Parts: sequence; structure tokens; C-alpha cells
Amino acid sequence: MTKLRRLARPAWLAAACALASCGDPGPSGLPPTTPGEPLPGLDPAARGRFFLGRALFERLATADEGLGPLYNAERCSECHDEPVTGGGSARVPVLKATRFADGRCDLLESQGGDNVQRRATDLLAAHGMGPESVPEGATATARMVAPPLMGLGLAEALPEAVLAERADPDDLDGDGISGRLPRLPDGGFARFGRKGDAATVEEFVDTALRFELGFTTPAHPAEEPRNGVPVPPEADPMPDPEIDQETLGLLADYVRFLAPPAPADAPDAVAEGAALFRQIGCESCHREEMRTGAASPATPSIHPALADQTIRPYSDFLLHDLGPALADVCGRDAAPSELRTAPLWGLRYRRRLLHDGRATDPATAVAAHGGEATAARDAFAALPAQAQAALVRFLESL
Ligand code: HEC
Ligand code: HEC
Repeated sequence: MTKLRRLARPAWLAAACALASCGDPGPSGLPPTTPGEPLPGLDPAARGRFFLGRALFERLATADEGLGPLYNAERCSECHDEPVTGGGSARVPVLKATRFADGRCDLLESQGGDNVQRRATDLLAAHGMGPESVPEGATATARMVAPPLMGLGLAEALPEAVLAERADPDDLDGDGISGRLPRLPDGGFARFGRKGDAATVEEFVDTALRFELGFTTPAHPAEEPRNGVPVPPEADPMPDPEIDQETLGLLADYVRFLAPPAPADAPDAVAEGAALFRQIGCESCHREEMRTGAASPATPSIHPALADQTIRPYSDFLLHDLGPALADVCGRDAAPSELRTAPLWGLRYRRRLLHDGRATDPATAVAAHGGEATAARDAFAALPAQAQAALVRFLESL
């Protein structure tokens, strides 16, 4: 049993919370707009899982607990911490590399996978192996920045039928905007990941544990090879899986129960910009409003605190072709130029925009849109300066 597993017991919760004051703070007096807080209305058990999961998310892992031997960071919050734990950041971009040929995406799994691990433990180095390098067959690389995780549980609770309402893969309505549900080999719909990689929060957390921290998981108990070459067992003596289901579930529930930040301004104060956002076609992809599904025995994955809510993510969670300027790596069911619409809730807390963090302000991010978003981008550019400023004010209120 690993230390991380041992530590994920109630005894550790008490100890960790005494140190980090991570326990349920009760009524904090903080305004509901504060990012990083749990969703309101969670029952005590769910709040407990949120705070325990957050402590794990922030906890530095060591090699003798299972970190590595290949990894990118020592804890989740090394990348997801702006402006608070659970946010995004560009501090440690993830290097991705893929091969796109004959219209098909190759994640280069035989050469170590699309996530190029940039760090190796001392023990691996002692066995003569360093970090991974970009596989030779790669046709593109990308340096992806970490997106904020707030609100993802609500996104998970959106019924597939609601998301399908906006899918129009063949652009039958002729508005230039298609949008499609990325599919996984098992038929699942991958609403998570910037390129549509995972169907559930837990599935993405499993991936993050393996590729960012180098932990093996119950579903994937084998250590990742280095660029396709198995790592010597002596370089990774921890018994697999290095994370148990309970720890994985706590991390997933932390992400699931993170509340999306509420807008800073009352709707009236930014009404002009919000109207322009709809008029020039931004809302065609950055979908303003949706309703989460009902909690029922038929939908055990929808927690009551996530059910029957009207949410405003400003995303359709579909893949769109944004043209050559933003194209780089491909995804499991995504071409190089296809990206999931970035949700805009909490935009005012982000310092780096777009999947590779190339923009630092909304107007620059819009200017990089192409492909299906060309008409909206040009309509924004054609607006009088005062109207552009109103639209940006609206975006910066989110
Ligand atoms: C080295 C930086 C880094 C670390 C460490 C990291 N992440 Fe991430 N995370 C990213 C990047 C980059 C993405 C976007 C990748 C993509 O979409 O393909 C991401 C995406 C995610 C997503 C999906 C977000 C969405 O909008 O669909 C989740 C969930 C997530 N991370 C959870 C975690 C958890 C849990 C951990 C710790 C086990 C973790 N991350 C550690 C960089 C990191
Ligand atoms: C065809 C669909 C589409 C349309 C139309 C569209 N967007 Fe986007 N938008 C996207 C996608 C996809 C991304 C993610 C790009 C990336 O990750 O590099 C994005 C990203 C953004 C971002 C960066 C968010 C972040 O956190 O990285 C902003 C800001 C933005 N869009 C604003 C707008 C505005 C304003 C309009 C209208 C002028 C608009 N978009 C029109 C699809 C669209």
C-alpha cells in the first residue's frame, strides 16, 4: 500500500486539515464570486470529499509514493493554481506531440504517447534514462496550458441530448458553424479536454494522474514506457497500482464539486456587450445557457447538487474547426485545427488565453479565431471601437 493511499484515510484528513486549515470552513463570509469554493448546497459528505480531494490535489507527491518515474509536475496544483487551487496556469505547459497523416490521428502510443514527459526521477536517471523526447514520427507539437477546472461537474451533468442540440457536423443550417461531439472508441462522448479526450471527469483525472504525475491507476496499472521503451522495474519499485480507487474518486469529486465563479457584474451593467456577443455570432459556439439533467436512479452519475440547474458556461462543449492559425496537435477524435469551445465562465481570472496560452487579452484571442469562427471574428473587427470595448467589458465580467 502506498503512502498516498495510507494518507487518504480519515486520520490523515484530520492531520492535514489541522496543518493546512483545509477543513470545511463553514460560512466563510466570502462573496459567492470567490473562485475555488465548493458548489453551494453540497451535503456534508460531499463537502468532506471536496476538501479531502483538494488536500490531495495540493499535496506534493514523492517518488517513494509513486511519483514518476516519468512525470511533469509533483502535484496537480503546480499547474492548476491561478488565481487559486483549481484554476489554470501557463507556468508548466504540457508538451504534446502527435502524428496526423491521411486524415488520421496517431497519438504515438508506441513511442510513449502524445504527452511528452519532461521530468524523470533520480532513480530513473540512475538507471541511465532521462526525460522523454518528442517522438521522431511526430508531425506537430503543442505547448498546452492548463485550463481552469471550475464548473466541470456541472458540465458533466449536461445530458448528451442537450449538447447534441447544437451539433451540426454537416452544417445543414448553412451558418458556417458545424460543431460535433467527439467520439471515443467505446462510443462515449468526450466533452473533457481541450481536444475532446475524455467522457467523464474521473476519466480525465485518471489520465492526469498517469501522464502529469506518473502514478499508475487501477484502470491502468502498468507504468508508462519511456518513448516506447519499458522503464526498468528497479527504477520504479512501488507496487502497482500506485493510486487506489478511493483516492482517484476523491480527486474526481474535488474537481466535480468546484463551483464556477459567478459573473462580477450585474447583467444590466454589461447588457450592451452581451447583446453584441449574441448578435455577431460568438454565442453560436460559446453557448450561453444550458440545463443540467435530473438526478434519478437512471443517472447515478448526476449528484443531486449538480442536477436541474441552469448554468452559463459560454461553451457548447463541442469541437469546432478554428482554422490553420490555431492548428497543431490532433486529438483522439480531433483534427489538428479542431478544438473544443473554451468555456468563458471565470474568464476574468485567466492570464493566458487559448489552448497554448498565446493571448493575454480577449481581443487578441478573438483575432486568432479562424475557420468556422471567421465570420464572428471579422464582425468583431468591424465593430466601432466603443462597441468592441463594450463586448470586451462583458467578457471581462465573466
Ligand atoms: C504539468 C501541468 C499539469 C498538471 C500537473 C496537471 N494538469 Fe490537469 N491539465 C493540464 C493541461 C495542459 C490540460 C489540458 C490538456 C488537454 O486538454 O488535453 C489539463 C486538463 C485537465 C482537466 C480537463 C479540463 C477540461 O476543461 O476538460 C482536468 C479534469 C484536469 N486537468 C485535472 C488534473 C488533476 C486532477 C491533476 C492531478 C492529478 C492535474 N490535472 C495535473 C495540465 C496539468
Ligand atoms: C466556431 C466556434 C467559435 C466562435 C463563433 C467563437 N469562438 Fe471563441 N473559441 C472557440 C474555440 C474552439 C476556442 C478555443 C481555442 C483554443 O483553445 O485555442 C475559443 C476561445 C475563445 C477565447 C479564449 C478563452 C480561453 O480561456 O482560452 C475567447 C476570449 C473567445 N473564444 C471569445 C470569442 C468571442 C468574443 C467570439 C465572437 C467574436 C468568439 N469567441 C467566437 C470557438 C468559437
